[in-house]
Amino acid sequence: MSEWQKADWRTKPRVQMPDYTDMAALNAVEAQLSKYPPLVFAGEARKLKAALGAASRGEAFLLQGGDCAESFDQFSANAIRDTFKVMLQMAMVLTYGAKVPVVKVGRMAGQFAKPRSAPTETVNGVELPSYRGDIINELAFTPESRIPDPAKMLQAYTQAAATLNLLRAFSTGGYADVHQVHAWTLGFTEGENAAKYRDMANRISDTLDFMKAAGVDSTRAHTLQTVDFYTSHEALLLEYEEALCRNDSTSGKWLAGSGHMIWIGDRTRQPDGAHVEFCRGVLNPIGLKCGPTMTTDDLKILMAKLNPTNEAGKLTLIARFGAGKVGEHLPRLIKAVQEEGANVLWTCDAMHGNTIKSSTGYKTRPFESVLREVREFFAVHKAEGTVPGGVHFEMTGQDVTECTGGVRAVTDEDLSDRYHTACDPRLNASQSLELAFLVAEELSALRQERQAEAV
Ligand code: PEP
Ligand code: CO
Repeated sequence: MSEWQKADWRTKPRVQMPDYTDMAALNAVEAQLSKYPPLVFAGEARKLKAALGAASRGEAFLLQGGDCAESFDQFSANAIRDTFKVMLQMAMVLTYGAKVPVVKVGRMAGQFAKPRSAPTETVNGVELPSYRGDIINELAFTPESRIPDPAKMLQAYTQAAATLNLLRAFSTGGYADVHQVHAWTLGFTEGENAAKYRDMANRISDTLDFMKAAGVDSTRAHTLQTVDFYTSHEALLLEYEEALCRNDSTSGKWLAGSGHMIWIGDRTRQPDGAHVEFCRGVLNPIGLKCGPTMTTDDLKILMAKLNPTNEAGKLTLIARFGAGKVGEHLPRLIKAVQEEGANVLWTCDAMHGNTIKSSTGYKTRPFESVLREVREFFAVHKAEGTVPGGVHFEMTGQDVTECTGGVRAVTDEDLSDRYHTACDPRLNASQSLELAFLVAEELSALRQERQAEAV
């Protein structure tokens, strides 16, 4: 077999990608992006792979979350900071509650391209091409806005670079220091979850004070002062991915330079398709969305293609079946993994199988369904004796009203108040924190049970 090349995907059938009309403009953008620095480095991708390998063995836990679609319009330092803050809070709840290291991966700094359920959208009898994310076209419902514009890739790159720069600064510049555990709370998250969080933060501060009194200076411990925060996105727009693909000089392998982890969506995972062809050639950890239509045969082929050497941490299977459907699909896919002896990390995307239309006409997700899918995911892994290694959420640090329910219950009528998403409905900070407490409980119960069994 000849060696993989970054442009090989072009010979394969592609779906969910735009048909650019101005080829000269497209070629110019690709040429320009190819000269830009990669956003991430191979060593970082390898470090994340090792951390995901630990999660696949139950020695760590993956928390992956962020926007459904990042937008050019809503790009701001505050929005990045607030999502980062909520993820730190959630990670702290999980680390403290379940006593397990948390691998933090944002759906950030590259999550711009969206697969759509239909190629066109009709409003009041007018049919236009669907909006496909800010890296491709525009949300406004006009014919000009919906034309795919290659120049948007350059703006996406710039925004991703600036986002990543801020995330790196927050991660290592003192902001993520565990001594700041109280400062990560957001003004608008009051109520039960905030009180629970404050209580936990008090106990952490107490522990740090105790350590100090006992002669351990925790303010000098590097691991308490900084975090590793990684980026991820769906590798959908392959012209962009190819243009940022770089050869790693130390290993001779190819790196997707657009983000630490990339994933293949539920609509683009055809075993002989373009997206699988691109992703199989890069050294980064790869995510694979597994919805109800994933067959066991396809899964086996995909595992062999995406992780031919069966490397731990290389492949993350992101289950997204919907509440009430996990018991029907997850056991058969777990069995396929076991039959192949494959190393995978199982995580639960409790968002994409739970999207409904509210009585007031908004695309929403009932918080109850999200919680239920997480519980079902844990229950199946418990029954199968396998490892529930992580969760994947669409969430924001902004005080939005996009998903219904939660402690500070958002109703169908409330959805119009602060519905800002460019694509799917996200959990707000309060709902995200509530979920983190639930996951910590599930994880801690399972770990205790397995430890007791092991004795
Ligand atoms: C997504 O994660 O934004 C998404 C579109 O998911 P899926 O491919 O699972 O539908
Ligand atoms: Co989404």
